[in-house]
Amino acid sequence: MLFDFLVPQRIIFGPGCAGRLGEEARIFGKKLLLCMGKGSLQTSGMIERVIAPLESTDREIVYCGGIAPEPTLESVEESLKIAREYEVDLVVGVGGGSVLDVAKATAGLYYGDGTVKEYFEGKELKLPGLPWIAVPTTSGSGAEVTKNAVLSDPDSGRKQSIRWDSWLASTAVVDPVLTMTMPRHITAQSGMDALTHALEAYTSRWSYPLTDGLALEAVILICRNLYSAYNKGSDKEARQQVALGSLMAGIALNNARVGAVHALAHPVGMRYHLAHGLVCAVLLPQIMEFNLTAVAEKYARVAKELHLANKDASSLDAAERLVHFVRMLQKRLQIPAKLGDVGLQEEDIPGLAESALPSGSLAANPRTAVYSDLVNILEANL
Ligand SMILES: [Fe+2]
Repeated sequence: MLFDFLVPQRIIFGPGCAGRLGEEARIFGKKLLLCMGKGSLQTSGMIERVIAPLESTDREIVYCGGIAPEPTLESVEESLKIAREYEVDLVVGVGGGSVLDVAKATAGLYYGDGTVKEYFEGKELKLPGLPWIAVPTTSGSGAEVTKNAVLSDPDSGRKQSIRWDSWLASTAVVDPVLTMTMPRHITAQSGMDALTHALEAYTSRWSYPLTDGLALEAVILICRNLYSAYNKGSDKEARQQVALGSLMAGIALNNARVGAVHALAHPVGMRYHLAHGLVCAVLLPQIMEFNLTAVAEKYARVAKELHLANKDASSLDAAERLVHFVRMLQKRLQIPAKLGDVGLQEEDIPGLAESALPSGSLAANPRTAVYSDLVNILEANL
C-alpha cells in the first residue's frame, strides 16, 4: 500500500469557533482579502460572526463580495485583480463551495504569471501562493479541506478542477452555527453532495483504510442527521453532526477521489446551469445501483452500521437496503428522482456522456463505466 495523505495545516471545528478567526488571521497576514458570496449569511446578519473577529484585529480588510455560485474563470480573474491591486498577504473565503473555490484559486494563483484560463488548461504552477483561511457556511462541498477549485469556462463549455497540493487551506474554520441560516433546499442539496463525497470516496478504486475510516463515519453521520437538519434548521445537534460529516467526507475525497456521480455532474451542471449539489443528489442512488455488485460488501457494512439490515443479512441484500435508504432520503428532501425533471434533453445525452469520459472521477469509480453505460444512465433519467 502506498499513499499520500493531505490535510490543511489546522482544522478548527465547533459551535462558535468563528470567533477565533481574528487570532488565525493574525498568524498569516497584515492585509487580507475577504471573499464572500451574496447568500443567506449576508441577509441573515450571520456574516457579523465572521467580520467582527476579523475587524477586532489591526489587520486591514479588503472586501471581495457578491461571488456568484458555480464560479467562472472570470470570477477568479476579478478577485485576483483586487488581491494584487491591494497587495494582500492573506485570503479568507467565507461561504459555500463556490466562494471557497474562488478564494482558494485566488490565493493559489496570486504569484502566477499566466491567465486563469492558462492554468485551467494545464499550465504548470511554479510558485506556491498566499496562505488562505477557509470558513464554510454550508455543509457539503468539502472545499475547506480539498486542494482543488472547480471552475467553469463558458467559452469552451467545460467545468473542471484546477488542483495543486499547495492549495490546501492554511486553516479551515468550521463553525456549524454559520450553517444554521442555510435555506432548506441548500441544506438538502449540499448535504446530499457531502453524502455523495462520503460514499464515492468510500468505494473509490483509490480508497485505503485511512480514507475508509473517515468516509464510513461521514456516511453514518450524514445519513443519521441530514433529514433532521433539513426539517428543522435550528436543530443545533443535527447541524453539527452534518457539518462534521461533510468535513470528514471532504478529507476522504481529497485523498481517495470521487466517482461516476461527479464525472457526470460537471458536464450536466454546466449544460443546464444547475447547482452541483442538486445534480449529485439526483444521480447518487442511480450510480449506487450501477455500482452495487462491485461494492456490495462496503455498502452492506454501511447498511449494517445504520441498522438497515440484520447482521446476518447477505451482502447483496444489505447493500440493496442502503440504496433504498438513499432513494427514500432523496424523496424526503424533495429532490427530483430524474435529471429530466430539471432540464435534461435527450439530444444532449451523447455529448454529455462524451464529456464525462476523460474525468479522473470516472477512473476512480469502482465499476468501469464506458460510454454506453453513461448513455444508459442518462437515458434512464428522461
Ligand atoms: Fe461534490
